[in-house]
Amino acid sequence: MTAHAAWLPPAAFAPLGAQRTLLLADDDGVARTVRDEVTRAVSAFGGTLRTDDDAPSLVLAELAAAERSAPEALPDVVAGLLEDAVGGGSAVPGEAASSSGPDAVVDAGLEPEDFVLARSGGVTAVLAGGPHGLLYGLHEVVRRGAGAFVGEIAAERHSPAQSLRMLDHWDNLHVHPVMGQVERGYAGGSIFWVDGEPNPDRERIAAYARLLGSIGVNAVAVNNVNVGSAAVLLTERLGDVVDLADIFRAHGIATYLSVSFASPVHLGGLDTADPLDERVAAWWADAASAVYERIPDFGGFLVKADSEGQPGPFTYGRDHADGANVLARALAPHGGTVLWRAFVYNHTQDWRDRSTDRARAAFDHFTPLDGKFDDNVVVQVKHGPLDFQVREAVSPVLAAMPRTRLAVELQVTQEYTGQQKHVCYLGEQWSELLGFRPWGEAGTDLAGIAAGHGPGGRRGGIAAVSNVGTDEFWTGHPLAQANLYAFGRLVWDASLDPLAILDEWATLTFGADDDVRAGLREVMAGSWLTYEKYTAPLGVCFMVTPGTHYGPSVDGYEYSPWGTYHFADREGIGVDRTVATGTGFAGQYPEPWRSTYESLETCPDELLLFFHHVPYTHVLRSGVTVVQHIYDTHFEGVEEVEARAAAWERLEGRVPADVDARVRALLAEQLRSAREWRDQVNTSFLRRSGIPDERGRTIFP
Ligand code: GCU
Repeated sequence: MTAHAAWLPPAAFAPLGAQRTLLLADDDGVARTVRDEVTRAVSAFGGTLRTDDDAPSLVLAELAAAERSAPEALPDVVAGLLEDAVGGGSAVPGEAASSSGPDAVVDAGLEPEDFVLARSGGVTAVLAGGPHGLLYGLHEVVRRGAGAFVGEIAAERHSPAQSLRMLDHWDNLHVHPVMGQVERGYAGGSIFWVDGEPNPDRERIAAYARLLGSIGVNAVAVNNVNVGSAAVLLTERLGDVVDLADIFRAHGIATYLSVSFASPVHLGGLDTADPLDERVAAWWADAASAVYERIPDFGGFLVKADSEGQPGPFTYGRDHADGANVLARALAPHGGTVLWRAFVYNHTQDWRDRSTDRARAAFDHFTPLDGKFDDNVVVQVKHGPLDFQVREAVSPVLAAMPRTRLAVELQVTQEYTGQQKHVCYLGEQWSELLGFRPWGEAGTDLAGIAAGHGPGGRRGGIAAVSNVGTDEFWTGHPLAQANLYAFGRLVWDASLDPLAILDEWATLTFGADDDVRAGLREVMAGSWLTYEKYTAPLGVCFMVTPGTHYGPSVDGYEYSPWGTYHFADREGIGVDRTVATGTGFAGQYPEPWRSTYESLETCPDELLLFFHHVPYTHVLRSGVTVVQHIYDTHFEGVEEVEARAAAWERLEGRVPADVDARVRALLAEQLRSAREWRDQVNTSFLRRSGIPDERGRTIFP
């Protein structure tokens, strides 16, 4: 089946394709991908492409001469690598004599992923530090559309804020009896595997790699962190990974593998996986060497250890640094990295035990190990201390390990945010999260910590669970493509406005149509907050159906072993995580947040029930009581979904019919589900509290 073009339909290349482009780059690797893109574009839209990989400096000298004698002969676009351009006079013809042009901007040199974009004298120039930067520069030009070819553009230097920009696939090699082919996948099967065999549709995978490369993603872990039968990808099925790496490499993406910590036992036949056992270290070293022999640019390993039943170092009385370092030492000679997840907690808890708090767990396990991880270990921390909830506090681990490289983990797949049946644009959530400043206004934010601007200056990155599958629209909900797009753009630069990113995605995907763009804003902007309104209130979390995590179940997780409680009774609701009277979790934050969260007076409303247990009659900072807030937001949430659905209807005829049909069907389900959430949650709190809605709306008693 041909997959939907997502944000790279042919029309998005029309402005570039109409130009006369001169490309100074080799004809292999990522540069070849750039050349192929431009070739396709010019043959579709009437422009021309001249390439020169032999003597770029001569070409530039020729251009400089043409600029003096026959400016009309200059190309419209010049794109190439810095190393090829220096020595040929000015890097950009139209900028020949300028002291503030690209030459000045690149004085400090360009990293391989960097590029400079400029336009002067009718010539648009992209000058990159390496082929990856050239690819990113090409797509910056595509995103700007016609705007890249008018007027002047003062030289702009573009560098990714994060050096690791990663998507994690939770794809299984074989169909898992409960989780299916893709764990928490809401978009069909795996694009990598079909029931134990490689997906023969290689074009599909290449199309995916192309989409990711266009938004700057540079790392992909191809299999589930719950490794299961896919452990063999490290050894006897390594060929599968080699094939995937070949596809991803052309788009600037390094391939990573999730590995099982017990591999030395299950794959190597050893009687232990103790990280301090020499035979275990030797086994990992051999396994890593075998991988690098076939994939010289292999990225490394992603590991979920001692978490939700996965094997790990605790079995041998070792800690997570011991566990991560044995893998890191196997990868180090080859330049590989271990991504070691901090999602470690007790999942066999007793709800009566109020002293154990799942939110505390990652901090308690990991912060004592700060400084003990090898240099090629990145500890990957979920953005919140629980589990990708629509609203939870930011993980305090991210502010507490200055001597450790840290990656923030986000979830593009909408496990707890509507499972790609509901419109829930997550760009706004991530923007808020990545902009959170753990040390207050004067300190850096989460994106800065990941980028190495935290107190210890260690660079990690940002990773997220992918939302893609074999679905014809890639993501089940066609509008969920915007989440994948926004992930790439925000990880490149978290300071971008998430609504501008939404517009950018809309323009690329549906064309430069102001009405469509405005309509999509009505449907999608703020949809994350709408989702929050009709689901779990005030940061309370986990009112979802156990197992599937779709739809409401107010007490579904309340007495379970998973540590996911809200403690709602007849009098009140919420988890006391204060230092004074609760689990002490609030004390894991630095100031000012420690005090802000600790106090009922200053705790932000949206996280009140994450940090405090309060009576239903407690008056929020907004002036309404907790129970009235629950009623109000649940009614409003449904009304907002109705309004969003109506806004979509107004786009009829303006968006392709297949997209329209799918979105309509899903909006009907979203409305049904939102009403179910409203009625279940409101009824549940009316029954518990006995307090009627001030406005007398229908709640089912
Ligand atoms: C969630 C999710 C699991 C997943 C886990 C993880 O708990 O429901 O399916 O395995 O996160 O991140 O490891």
